[in-house]
Amino acid sequence: KNKEERMMDMKVYGEAQGLPREVDNYFVDEPEAGRFNVHRDLFRDEQLFELEMEHVFEASWVFLCHESQVPDADDYLTTFIGRQPVVVLRDQAGELNAFLNVCPHRGTRLYTARAGNSSVQMCPYHAWCFDSAGKNVKLKDEELGHYTPEYAGENHDLIPIGRLQSYQGFVFGALPGDVPELEDYLGDTRFFIDTFAQQSEQGMEILPGEVSYTYDANWKMQVENTMDIYHLTTVHATFAKIVAGRQERELAAAGADKVKAVDLNSLSSVASGTYTFDHGHTVFWGTDPGQENRALWASRDDLIARGVDQLTVDWMFRPRVINYFPNLQFVDSASLQLRVIRPLSAQKTEMTMFCLAPKGEPKEGRRRRLRQYEDFYNATGIATPDDVACYEDISRGGLAVKSEEWIQGFARGMEKVVAGPDELASEIGIQPLHSCSGVRVQDETVFRGFYREWRDRMRAATGGEK
Ligand code: FES
Ligand SMILES: [Fe+2]
Repeated sequence: KNKEERMMDMKVYGEAQGLPREVDNYFVDEPEAGRFNVHRDLFRDEQLFELEMEHVFEASWVFLCHESQVPDADDYLTTFIGRQPVVVLRDQAGELNAFLNVCPHRGTRLYTARAGNSSVQMCPYHAWCFDSAGKNVKLKDEELGHYTPEYAGENHDLIPIGRLQSYQGFVFGALPGDVPELEDYLGDTRFFIDTFAQQSEQGMEILPGEVSYTYDANWKMQVENTMDIYHLTTVHATFAKIVAGRQERELAAAGADKVKAVDLNSLSSVASGTYTFDHGHTVFWGTDPGQENRALWASRDDLIARGVDQLTVDWMFRPRVINYFPNLQFVDSASLQLRVIRPLSAQKTEMTMFCLAPKGEPKEGRRRRLRQYEDFYNATGIATPDDVACYEDISRGGLAVKSEEWIQGFARGMEKVVAGPDELASEIGIQPLHSCSGVRVQDETVFRGFYREWRDRMRAATGGEK
């Protein structure tokens, strides 16, 4: 079969059949009455988990990697689309391709490392070999195998995924072939990716030192938390206290604060807002009173001189979070971090975090970026472990009580949210579905956009129309 026919055939097998209730009954969505509730089974039901892997993760675009992670010919990187192992390969002609990371012979995982460089990859089981374009270049002892001419004539190459496209170096893949063009899928949120991509003429790069950890709670906790401003002044009070103490000590001892960490208290008390976009993508933006402490600050005149427009440059200095449905998050607050979500079960999730930076950044800016990054983020930072403790406490708390059905935490901002763009969005020229802004609103209506997309996709699980 040719590549197109194989793509059409590609089917992802879910273990679960059907749902215990209609998808719409997992939500109370009554905008007129100001009500929006989510059923707790979304965070704890394993049957629902299998279905969301099939209909949410394995049915459309997910983020795979950044091109800077596979810069040279024969570079590869292994990852997942939902439950399916995938390998992204750069072939000898410099083209990026992605395949199921399984040997077609018996299905052994082919590339076992996270990343590497390999012009010919040998399967660890029976030594079939594949080049970096996914082509089978050797079938061990073929001449001794008494194969039928039909078998010998069949295609033994790696199985390509349905679609692979990049935007500004960010690579997305989809198992089926019939998904929208990536640019349409990203829609107007592309403006926000541009606020990163245009920080350097050479684009962005992922810095060495990716960090991965798991937590015992549902993947949607991570989606929510990254957009959740309401928790900053409670959960990260520890961070604020440690930073203030350190600043005092360092100023007293050396006369300088070397990290210049973000001031979370002021971040939650200035103008901020959220946007909801088509396809479930969401954006948070804030106003940073300490923008001169950001790594990029020293480069701002160069940006203008290079022809980046003033509006885009202004947005580069706003704290912002862009949450791409379903598995990618850009977080530019304490420093710039890329987060990739991989659900493992209803109550186990793997996070992989990267420090993202403009290529060719001046040395002092890079130093500042790294210190701020390691200060706040990751399992070793001062803030991330406190977030993770909250997700796990939700698993131990509310989700453990089966009789409790509804989560009611999506109500802040209900009387503030407007349909369509607000003034700031109009200034950019983007068309969000909803906008919500103000001082200290700490909006929760933004989560609704994510859950509505989840609901629309899951309608397919019960045979309904999207
Ligand atoms: S499973 Fe790969 S060569 Fe047999
Ligand atoms: Fe947090």
